[in-house]
Amino acid sequence: MQRKWWHDKVAYQIYPKSFMDSNGDGIGDLQGIISKLDYLKDLGVDIVWLSPIYQSPLADEGYDISDYYAIDPRFGTMEDMEELIAEAKKRGMTVLMDLVVNHCSDEHEWFQKACQDPDGKYGKFFYLRDKDPDGKLPTNWRSYFGGSCWEELPGTDKLYLHVFHKKQPDLNWENPELREEVYKNIRWWMEKGIGGFRIDAIINIKKPAVFHDYPADRDDGLCTIHNMLLEAEGIGEFLGEMRDKAFAPYDAFTVGEVFNEKKNELPLFIGENGYFSTMFDFSLELYGRSEKGWFDVKRIDIDAVRDCMFGAQKKIGDIGFYSNIIENHDEPRGASRLLSDEIRNDDTKKALAAVYFLRRGLPFIYQGQEIGMENKKIRSVDELDDISSIDAYKVARNAGLTEEEALETLSFHSRDNARTPMQWSNQEHAGFSTAAPWMKENPNYVRINVQEQQGREDSVLSFYKKLVALRKDPLYKETFVYGDFEPCEGCASGVIAYLRKSAGQTILVAGNFNPNGTTLQLPKRADGETFTEGTLLLGNGKEAAVADGCVSIEGFGCAVILLKE
Ligand code: NOJ
Repeated sequence: MQRKWWHDKVAYQIYPKSFMDSNGDGIGDLQGIISKLDYLKDLGVDIVWLSPIYQSPLADEGYDISDYYAIDPRFGTMEDMEELIAEAKKRGMTVLMDLVVNHCSDEHEWFQKACQDPDGKYGKFFYLRDKDPDGKLPTNWRSYFGGSCWEELPGTDKLYLHVFHKKQPDLNWENPELREEVYKNIRWWMEKGIGGFRIDAIINIKKPAVFHDYPADRDDGLCTIHNMLLEAEGIGEFLGEMRDKAFAPYDAFTVGEVFNEKKNELPLFIGENGYFSTMFDFSLELYGRSEKGWFDVKRIDIDAVRDCMFGAQKKIGDIGFYSNIIENHDEPRGASRLLSDEIRNDDTKKALAAVYFLRRGLPFIYQGQEIGMENKKIRSVDELDDISSIDAYKVARNAGLTEEEALETLSFHSRDNARTPMQWSNQEHAGFSTAAPWMKENPNYVRINVQEQQGREDSVLSFYKKLVALRKDPLYKETFVYGDFEPCEGCASGVIAYLRKSAGQTILVAGNFNPNGTTLQLPKRADGETFTEGTLLLGNGKEAAVADGCVSIEGFGCAVILLKE
């Protein structure tokens, strides 16, 4: 595999609205981010991905862009953005923007012009269809956020397609003029000095040649978008063109949000000269999903976490590099979802961190994950901000769940869980803002916050710092970055363990998520002998010891051990 500058780096996702507010309006902003760059540097972060900060009505919190060349005033100015890029650079860090080009906002000039003249140039930037006199919609596709994908084009006798919210009209990638506009914008941002992009919802840009209905899968008579995605062929033409015309000239680093590439497409997406540098491993996020809705999602346990993690490593092999995550702004907190109430504590948060982080691939940390932030309890539907959570609430109620059950589902799944303000201290508003934040802080900030953990050797934050430093340690970097991944088979339930191996070096990474101790059998050494000794490189304070080809680990323990060859 061709080695790339970013392979040995660590990335961090910022959700700007909730990261740090510098001007006391309750909304996080670019100056707030700048004020925390030293914090990120100290953590060991190299790549910083910003969720969208472009001009936007914020109907989907910035994933609905009304001007791709402007910063939303709530986040700051273009000068602030330039300062952020420069300040990050000074610290050896690079900034990624979010590229949201499956759709724009209905408040974007293109869409406004399409409404004025649907048959003109900008009408062709969108998917428009004539209204049927009998009211039949062009297709029965259900938008990701609920309801039909079709909406009236204001002031006209046409409909437009939106696979997300109605304020997010889909852009017509079949139109070369639209594609050129996208590439022009990418190049413009690369010229500003960013390192590249995280690429939003990109699989949706290709639609089938003929639009038609699929069998309904809920009482609403609609069907999931996945049907049309499955039928759509030829996305590679668009993605290859974007790579060649926009990314390659700048050697941009790109990470794709790709949920459902087709079988055998992985090498095309992230292999040698793939469409993207890397893409997220979403196997944990996809686990247990149901077309019925969030209320029907199967809860994940540690054995399933292990199967997802190992399955993805097997699938990727040495085709390319996945980006490894346990949470992001679209998911509940990893510590809450992946660790059940009975086993969630600082020790298991560290164990989870170790096992996800040291797999092969580029580790991403989502803001607050490094201090073990957790889900919040949602007590009323009025507390919800996220549009998909509001829809999920309705879906759950329509399926017969009580108010209490529906809210319980949301407390577990809602995207708002990840969007509460970053918990900087135990001061008012979690040290995020001097004003009441746009979204109420998680009350547990008095206990879980950066300030409390910063000076404490055994905090979750200190563990993350050690983890980052360990992956970068010149003594072990080759193994952690490029080494083979070998699962330890036959472990007890609730244990995740694997080896990372390079020539002459074998490192065990193991987490025991059970309250009781465990002993696991190590695979044989390369010479067929058993491992009998090891040096602990990182642990969470619990006992771990190697003897006679086995490792014993105390309850809730985790261990990264250099095995003696
Ligand atoms: C994926 C983004 O991560 C999510 O937040 C957004 O709602 C959709 N794409 C639509 O842009």
